[in-house]
Amino acid sequence: MIIGAVKELFPGERRIGITPQTAESYIKRGAKVIIEKGYGKPSMIEDEEFVKRGVEIADSRKEVIEKADILIYVRGPGASQEVEKEDISLFREGQIIIGFLEPLAYPSVIQKLAEKKVTAFSVELIPRISRAQSMDALSSMASIAGYAAVIEAAKHLSKIFPMLMTAAGTVKPAKVFVIGAGVAGLQAMAFSKKLGAIVEGYDIRPETKEQVQSVGAKFVELGLESEEARAEGGYAKAMGEEFYKKQRELMTKHVAEADVVISTAMVPGKKAPVLITKDMVEKMAPGSVIVDLAAEKGGNCELTKPGEIVDFNGVKIIGMVNPASLYPKDASFLYSKNIENFLKLIIANGKIVLNFEDEIIRDTAVAHGGKIVSPLVQKALEKPS
Ligand code: NAI
Repeated sequence: MIIGAVKELFPGERRIGITPQTAESYIKRGAKVIIEKGYGKPSMIEDEEFVKRGVEIADSRKEVIEKADILIYVRGPGASQEVEKEDISLFREGQIIIGFLEPLAYPSVIQKLAEKKVTAFSVELIPRISRAQSMDALSSMASIAGYAAVIEAAKHLSKIFPMLMTAAGTVKPAKVFVIGAGVAGLQAMAFSKKLGAIVEGYDIRPETKEQVQSVGAKFVELGLESEEARAEGGYAKAMGEEFYKKQRELMTKHVAEADVVISTAMVPGKKAPVLITKDMVEKMAPGSVIVDLAAEKGGNCELTKPGEIVDFNGVKIIGMVNPASLYPKDASFLYSKNIENFLKLIIANGKIVLNFEDEIIRDTAVAHGGKIVSPLVQKALEKPS
């Protein structure tokens, strides 16, 4: 059995899905590992590191794709148009593809994978059950994104985060308001707190109140939080426009008083809700910062431009794109371990065994045997959102 990986093609992507450590572990379990020349470079890992662990280096992308039984991507087809264009035609029947595929946003790409008769696994769909925690790539990447958002905010804010008592006077600590208390949001709260800021957090799922408090932040009660906002797996549901209008009204004061707003509010498979309007930004003091971690999903702020820093009346709105990739060493370490843990479920004694009775395998698979096998993706194909 051969496990392979080719260079990531998505612009600016620096993470990789096989590290020398995970390659060694696959080889110990009876697999061969092949990578494209220069594969690890964006994560600062030279080919020699892989060679030392027994990995074969191929000169061309085509050779890896043709040889591999399992192909590991960070951004696979769907999540990367470049990969879709370059690689899909080379896939073959029975080959296993795994990575971020964004199947709910690009179900037609999954249809193409089904037509190629590959078995495709989308790591976004790994169920959020205890047994799958070590495979949860969304959580690993979101932890790094939360950290990255705080670093970016601190870099662009016109004041410092901590309180500073000096002979000349006392500098007040920065006020940080984090919207969305999922994995990235909680990490952003915890890290802002460590840097000495006064931190407030908000989420529409009521169970987050305790989680927000446990990282030392104050939970903002808007009176909108409700069990109805909770979807399966701990995610939020999309609420109606009336709801978001009310939420914006109630949040305005908190946004206006913050030096830093970090917004992380997302709903799987949907555009991110707009929670910060231009009017709300107008009420913020010049020199303050909004870091929008939902930028790639359309943004939580009306003024967000993905991958850009917008200056509006002195307020900087940072549309963060691919934040985990800013720290490729640790992001690749975590992601490659997530993939290794998932593959343990389908590799037995050096052979591939696909047990669709296992809910982790069943829920994560999007294409198999010539068909789209995920009901979520089938639904997305019928009714694009
Ligand atoms: P996410 O990235 O989809 O969304 C981020 C956050 O935005 C969520 O907490 C969501 O409730 C919030 N949000 C959505 N709409 C909002 C709005 N209008 N206003 C304010 N907040 C809004 O979610 P993420 O971070 O991937 O995970 C969410 C939750 O899933 C976690 O907090 C946890 O409870 C659960 N989880 C469970 C795991 C497990 O059991 N293995 C692993 C990881 C997460």
